[in-house]
Amino acid sequence: MMESEGMKDLIACQTRISAIVDDQLSYAGYNISELMDNEASFEEVIYLLWNLHLPNQKELADFTAELRANYGISDAIEQCLLIQSRRHLHPMSVLRSTVSLLGVYNVHAEDTSEEAVYEQSIQLMAKMPTIIAAFARLRSGQTPIAPREDLSIAANFLYMLKGEEPTPLQVKALNRALVLHADHELNASTFAARVCASTLADIYSCVTTAIGTLKGPLHGGANERVFDMLTDIREMGDSEAYLQEKLACKEKIMGFGHRVYKKQDPREKYLRDMAEELTKGTEDEVWFDLSREVEDYMKNAKGLIPNVDFYSATVYHVLGIDSSIYTLIFAMSRVSGWIAHIQEQQRHNKLIRPRSDYVGLVDLTYIPMEAR
Ligand code: ACO
Repeated sequence: MMESEGMKDLIACQTRISAIVDDQLSYAGYNISELMDNEASFEEVIYLLWNLHLPNQKELADFTAELRANYGISDAIEQCLLIQSRRHLHPMSVLRSTVSLLGVYNVHAEDTSEEAVYEQSIQLMAKMPTIIAAFARLRSGQTPIAPREDLSIAANFLYMLKGEEPTPLQVKALNRALVLHADHELNASTFAARVCASTLADIYSCVTTAIGTLKGPLHGGANERVFDMLTDIREMGDSEAYLQEKLACKEKIMGFGHRVYKKQDPREKYLRDMAEELTKGTEDEVWFDLSREVEDYMKNAKGLIPNVDFYSATVYHVLGIDSSIYTLIFAMSRVSGWIAHIQEQQRHNKLIRPRSDYVGLVDLTYIPMEAR
C-alpha cells in the first residue's frame, strides 16, 4: 500500500466546484482573475459555487433577497454570544459552538433532503457574518448592531462592526477578500467537511467540523498571526534579524508557503494590490512597506512565496478589524465553498474511509495485570 505524507498530491474525489491547475485557481470554470477583473460580487460567487453557473439578473436578485431576509439572529443566539464573550475563548471556538447552536435552534436541522439543506445553507451563509460582528462588539463591551437588509454581505458586515456605513473602497476591499477566500479545491477544512458529509451527517455537523479544522495555524489560523508578527517586527525595528532568528529556530513564518502553490499563490497579488491601494499616503503605509520587506526576505532566504493569508492581514487591519477575528472572516467566506462541497458530496455520496499503514508492534502476548 502506497502512503503519501499528509496525503500530498493524492486525488481523493472529483469535483466541479473549483480547480487549481498550473498555479491558477478557478471557480466552476471561471479563473479568479475573470471574477476579480470584473468585480464579481461575493453573492454572485456564492451562487456560482452552489449552482455551477453565474446567475442572471433575476436569479441574483432573488438569491440576494433570500440571503438578506435571513441576516438576523435570534435573541437566544445573541444571549449565548454574550455569555461566551465574557469568557476567554478563542473567537474561532465561539464561532464553532455558535454555528452548532444554529442547528440546535433549527427544528429541521436533521432533515437532509435537498430542499431542507438549501434552506439551512442560506441560513448559515446569511447568519455567520452577523454572529461574527455581534461577537466582536460584545467582547469589546459594545452592543451588537442589527443587520441592514439594504446592504451587501461585505457592506453589511463592516456596518455591523462599526455602526457606520463603509466607504465604497472599503466595501470593494472586503468583497474582493471574500471572493478570493470562497473556495479552494480540497483544502484541509473542505476535506474535513466532505468526510463528515460522506457519513450522511447534517450540514451543521459538517460546517462545525470545517470551522474546527480551519482554526489551526497551518490553515486559516495563519492570518491572525501574520498581523501579530508584523506588529512584533515593527516594535523590534529590524525585520531581517527577526526573521533570521525565527528561521534559525525552525519556526514557520505565518503567511508563507503552500502545499499546492510553489511559484505563486494567484490570490495573493490581488490582496497585495488592495493593501497598497488602501494604505497609500496614509499612516498605515508602514504596514505595507514592512510586508514587502518580509516578502523580499522570505523569497531570497528561503524561496518561499506569500500565500493568501499574508496581505489579507494588512487589508483587514486597514479596514479597522481586530486581528483576533481575521480567521472568522476567512470562515464567513469559505463557508460558501464548504456548503458547495457538502452538497456535491451528498449528491454523489460514497463514504470517505481511507486505510492506514500500520507500523506498530505485532503478535504480542497478553500479560496478566499482576505480572506487568
Ligand atoms: N516558514 C518557514 N519555513 C517554511 C514555511 C514557512 N512558512 N513553509 C514551509 N517551510 C519550509 C519547511 O520548513 C520545509 O523545510 P525543510 O524541507 O527544510 O524541512 C519546507 O519549507 C517544506 O515545508 P512543509 O511544511 O513540508 O510543506 P507543506 O506543504 O507540508 O506545508 C504549509 C504547507 C503548512 C502551508 C507551510 O508552508 C506552513 O506551515 N506555512 C505557514 C502557515 C501558513 O501560512 N498557513 C496558511 C496556508 S494557506 C491557507 O491555508 C489559507
